[in-house]
Amino acid sequence: MNKVILLAKRPVGKPVLEDFELITEDIPQAGEGEILLKTLYVSVDPYLRGRMNDSKSYVPPFEINKPIQSGLIAEVVASNNSEFTPGDFVSGVLEWKEFQISKGKGLIKVDEKAAPLSAYLGILGMTGLTAYLGLTEIGSPKNGETLVVSGAAGAVGSVVGQIGKILGCRVIGIAGSDEKVETLKSKFKFDEAINYKTTSDIKQAIKKFCPDGVDIYFDNVGAEISDAVLANINRYARIPICGAISIYNETQPLLGPQIQPVLLVKSALMRGFIVSDFSDKFPEAIQKLSTWLKEGKLTYSETIVEGFDNIPRAFLDLFEGKNEGKMIVKI
Ligand SMILES: NC(=O)c1ccc[n+]([C@@H]2O[C@H](COP(=O)([O-])OP(=O)(O)OC[C@H]3O[C@@H](n4cnc5c(N)ncnc54)[C@H](OP(=O)(O)O)[C@@H]3O)[C@@H](O)[C@H]2O)c1
Repeated sequence: MNKVILLAKRPVGKPVLEDFELITEDIPQAGEGEILLKTLYVSVDPYLRGRMNDSKSYVPPFEINKPIQSGLIAEVVASNNSEFTPGDFVSGVLEWKEFQISKGKGLIKVDEKAAPLSAYLGILGMTGLTAYLGLTEIGSPKNGETLVVSGAAGAVGSVVGQIGKILGCRVIGIAGSDEKVETLKSKFKFDEAINYKTTSDIKQAIKKFCPDGVDIYFDNVGAEISDAVLANINRYARIPICGAISIYNETQPLLGPQIQPVLLVKSALMRGFIVSDFSDKFPEAIQKLSTWLKEGKLTYSETIVEGFDNIPRAFLDLFEGKNEGKMIVKI
C-alpha cells in the first residue's frame, strides 16, 4: 500500500499533528508517457505554513483532504516516458506520497555522484538559491560591510552568513540556542552570534557586536528581532525580507515601531522577494554554490528525521527551532 499525507484541517495559530491525516491507497501504475516515482527525501519548509491558510498568495493554498506538496527527491522506479529511465533521481515539487505518478513536467534530474541527494533540497536547492540570490541581488554585499542574519542557524541563514564571509563582510547571526550560537561561530565562521532567547536587550547586543552599524540585514524572522536590528542600520542599508517565521502563526496583526521614518532618514532599501523572482539567475547561482562547496568555502548542516509518518512532526519542529540547517525527512 501507498502512504499519503493530507491536510485534514487548516491550522489556527501554531499547526498541530491533528491538522494532518495519514491515509493509504493502492500504489499507482504509470500510464502512457508517465513515470512512477518513489520518494526518498522530503523537504519541510516554513513557507508551507502560508499555503495551509485559505488566503491568496504567490502560490495557491493547499486544499483540505488533498495531499500536501513540497520539494522532494525521488527515484524513477518505472517509466513510460522516453526522457526518464528507472534509476534516475529527480527533484521537484511533488506530493507527500511514498509513490506517485508524474508526467515529468517540472522535474529536474539530480546527480547522486556530484553531491549527496539530500543536498539538492538544501544548499544546492531552493534554500541555497534563496540565500545566494537574496543576499547578492538585494543585499549587494561589499567588502568590509557588516551583515546581520536572523534565523541564522537555519537552512537559508547558515548559507547567507557563509556567503557574506566569502564576500568579505563582518557577519553577525541571531539564533535560538547556545548550541546554535556555538555552531555559527565554529562551523560557519560567523564573527559573532546572539541567542535571542536569552539576550534581554537584542538592540543593545547588535550595537555591541556591530560597532560600525549594520549595512545589510538579511531578515528571516520579522517582528521584535527585526525591530532591534533595524534600530542599528546605517545610511544606505539594504534589507532583503526573505521570511517572517515569527509571524506565520499569529492570528492577529502585530503592532511594531513605524519603520518608514527609519528607512527615510537612513536612505535604506527594504525589499521582499520570492526566490522565483530570480529564476533567470538559478543556473549561475547553482554554479557558484557548487564551486564554493567543492572548494570547501561553503559547508552545510542537515537535520534528518527518518520515516514517512514523521513528515508532519518534522514540519512542526521548524517552529520550535529543533533543526540546525536544512530540515529533511528521509523515507
Ligand atoms: N523568500 C523566499 O523565497 C524564501 C525561500 C525559502 C525560505 N524563506 C523563508 O526564510 C526563512 C528561513 O527558512 P528556512 O527554510 O531556512 O528555515 P529554517 O531557518 O531552517 O528553520 C526555521 C527556523 O526558524 C527559527 N524560528 C522558529 N520560530 C521562530 C520565532 N518565533 N522567532 C525567531 N525564529 C524562529 C528556528 O530557529 P531558532 O532556533 O533560531 O529559533 C527554526 O530552526 C523562513 O522565514 C522562510 O519562510 C523564504
